[in-house]
Order: sequence, then C-alpha cells, then structure tokens
Amino acid sequence: MKIEPAAQVEGHIAVPGDKSISHRALLIGALCEGETLVRSWGRSGDTESTLAAVRALGVRVDEDDVDTLRVHGAGLRGLRAPDAQIDCGNAGTLVRLILGILAFQQGRFELVGDESLSRRPMERVAEPLCLMGAEIESNDGCLPLVVQGGDLSAIAYTLPVASAQVKSAILLAGLGADGRTAVREPVPTRDHTELMLRAAGARVTSNPDTISVMGGPTLELPEVQVPGDFSSAAPFIVAAALLPGSHLTVHDVGLNPLRTGLLDVLERMGARIGVVSRRRVAGEQIGDVEVVAQPLVATKIQPEEVPLLVDELPLFGLLAACARGRSYVNGAEELRVKESDRIEAVVDALRAIEVRARATKDGFAITGVPTRPRGGQIDARGDHRIAMLGAIAGLVSREGVRLEGAESAAISFPGFFDLLDSVVQR
Ligand code: S3P
Repeated sequence: MKIEPAAQVEGHIAVPGDKSISHRALLIGALCEGETLVRSWGRSGDTESTLAAVRALGVRVDEDDVDTLRVHGAGLRGLRAPDAQIDCGNAGTLVRLILGILAFQQGRFELVGDESLSRRPMERVAEPLCLMGAEIESNDGCLPLVVQGGDLSAIAYTLPVASAQVKSAILLAGLGADGRTAVREPVPTRDHTELMLRAAGARVTSNPDTISVMGGPTLELPEVQVPGDFSSAAPFIVAAALLPGSHLTVHDVGLNPLRTGLLDVLERMGARIGVVSRRRVAGEQIGDVEVVAQPLVATKIQPEEVPLLVDELPLFGLLAACARGRSYVNGAEELRVKESDRIEAVVDALRAIEVRARATKDGFAITGVPTRPRGGQIDARGDHRIAMLGAIAGLVSREGVRLEGAESAAISFPGFFDLLDSVVQR
C-alpha cells in the first residue's frame, strides 16, 4: 500500500473500544454469575480470538450488534474443557490472562497461537502460576502450553518485569486460590483488571506497589461500557501533533492515567493538547482529546515511564524524528518481545525514511530534525503497531511511504485506514 503525504489532519473522530478492556470484559464476564452486557466492544483480530476462546470453553456469547455482546457467565469454576486446542491467534493478552483462569478450572486445556505468538515468552506467567500449584507444560517456555486445572494456593509475588499481562494472570488465578494473592510491581502498569474485578464484586486492594485479591468471590458484572482505545487514538493524535495546521478531536477515548503517558510526553515536547468532558465509567476515565500541531523538541523516556506508553513507543519514535534535538528511550527491553522486536522494527522503519535512529539494548536514540522525513519503504513485519507507525510516517513524509504488511493493522483496528482517510487533507 502507498501512503501519500498529507497537508494536515482535521476533524472529529471516535475510535473502537479499548482492546485491553474488551479482552477482559469477555474473560471476566465468563467467570460471572448471570449476564454481562458489553457495550462499545472493540472488535478486532485479537479480540475475536478471545470471543472464540470463551465460546470454546462453553460460554454462550450473543452478538446483539457488531460492538454489543451479551456474555452468559459460567460462574467462577464453570468453564468446560474443549476437545480441541484453544487458538489464541496473535493475542498475547488472551494467552497470558486465560492461563490464570484455566489454572483453577476442571480439566486439561491446550493453548496454541500463530507464529509470532509462538515465539513470545510464556514462562513469566507459567512460573508464578506453578508457584500457586498450577500444572503447566510449555514448549521451552513458549506455546503450545498444556494446563491441567486444579486447586491453587495464594502467593505473594514480586514481578521481575513490569507487565500488566503477568500481573493480571496472577490476580485472575488468585480468584481461584485459597486466601489472599498479592502481586508487587516494580513500576505501576495498566490496572484495567483490578478496576473490572472490583466492579464485579471481587475484593481487590491496591497499595502504591502491591495489588491483592481474595479468592473465592461470586462475581457479577451486569454491564461494561468500553471506552475508546487510547492506543488506537494515538496514531491520529501523533499525525495531528506533527502536521502543521492540523486540529483534531478524538471523542470518548479511555484516559486511564496508566495508559496516557503519550499525552504527557507530547506536552513535554511542546504539543498543544487539551482534554475536555472528563468523566468516569465503572472506574475507567473517559474524555475528549484535542490536539493542535506545534513545533516539537526532543525528550527522554525513562524506565518508570515506559509502561505508561509501552504500545505507543513506536509512534514516539516518529515524534522524536521530527522534534528538534536528540531523543532517547531507556528501559524498554520489553519491546524486544512484543509482536515483533519493536526496537529493531522501529529503528529500521525510521532509517528507511531517512531518519537518524540507533537501537540500544533497551531502547533507541533518535536525532530529530524539525522537518518532514523523506519517505521510503517500511515493512510492518506482521506487527499492527509498526503498520500504524508506517501509515503515519507516510502522511508526515515528503515523498510518501510504501507500506508492506499494512493489513496487520486489523489485528487491533480493522477500520484504521478508512478512519485515517476521513481526516486526512491533501
Ligand atoms: C496489555 C499489556 C501490555 C501491552 C499489551 C496489552 C494488557 O503488555 O503491551 O498490548 O492488556 O494487559 P505487557 O503487560 O506484557 O507489557
């Protein structure tokens, strides 16, 4: 696909429901008593894997509409072991979170995934679950995984890496354990699991660095209103921040402060960001984000900030490329084990459009120039976040970008290119 340069982006948009919360609504809804009505569910390649997985476990889910689901919960221990394997597709969140749930169900479960997911580390989840008494076999720390469900005991566990997926897996397993399970995080990560479990009636407590949950609750979650996905809004926000004359408003977007690190970074770089109509729905913050393009200056991202914009770091690379001065990302080694090695993928993509970028062991360094990069050919490597980076790079470039593997954007956002077309002015 060829992405031609744009003059500016202009308009009012809304993005589909948050992917992290959409996975959780299905998985937690499946453990509830009674029905969970999920509104503004974010339908994508990844969340459809979760929909298929909970159905394979015997949970009835009605699709009232493309983005409205009714999950008929099976109760805390009511999932049924299917004869077939559970295919997690490309979805890291699905495989990690469902492991925590299957660990205390009756039966044997086999989890598989696509080629990219099959290369990603699962030991980080299997290890704490095994400490709780789970029986999990892996293929050298990777998929396929076989789980034999059974009784679990509560643990107190310190996460070796800052990962909301690992934290969530342990908290979900804690629902099926005896007593109180506690997870300590090195730095705060997204807390959607904690917020949703609390809304469903679980006893969840959060101290600054430790989250704990009591086992054996009866969960009920009549309704989940999914906010717009901040990570899907991010490419539009970045395009508006970079193209002079742009003025864009993204409506009803999730503003959980553990997700919106990109807004703080943009403000530090000199962008004009406004947030209006802030409100809270079932613990999650929502609002409208307004962006006006301004000249940007370089900045540094330090390790404690990384989880707050982990999925937006590829886009940060593009912001840095167009900002005056040298920018750095440190403490982001986690990017190496995402859907692609995102440190190498970002640096290669930026170099392909003639930006001065260098990979480091745990991040990247970029020498920015406040002008449009030339353009060139970018390979998304089957990674949706790199496909979106490539698309926005094309808009802000002088000569456009030939984007290989653009279709991978559908892993998180099927209508991405149509929405982009609707705001681009050439
Ligand atoms: C996610 C957590 C993050 C993020 C991923 C979704 C989640 O992963 O990169 O896209 O929904 O919990 P890690 O927690 O492994 O960093």
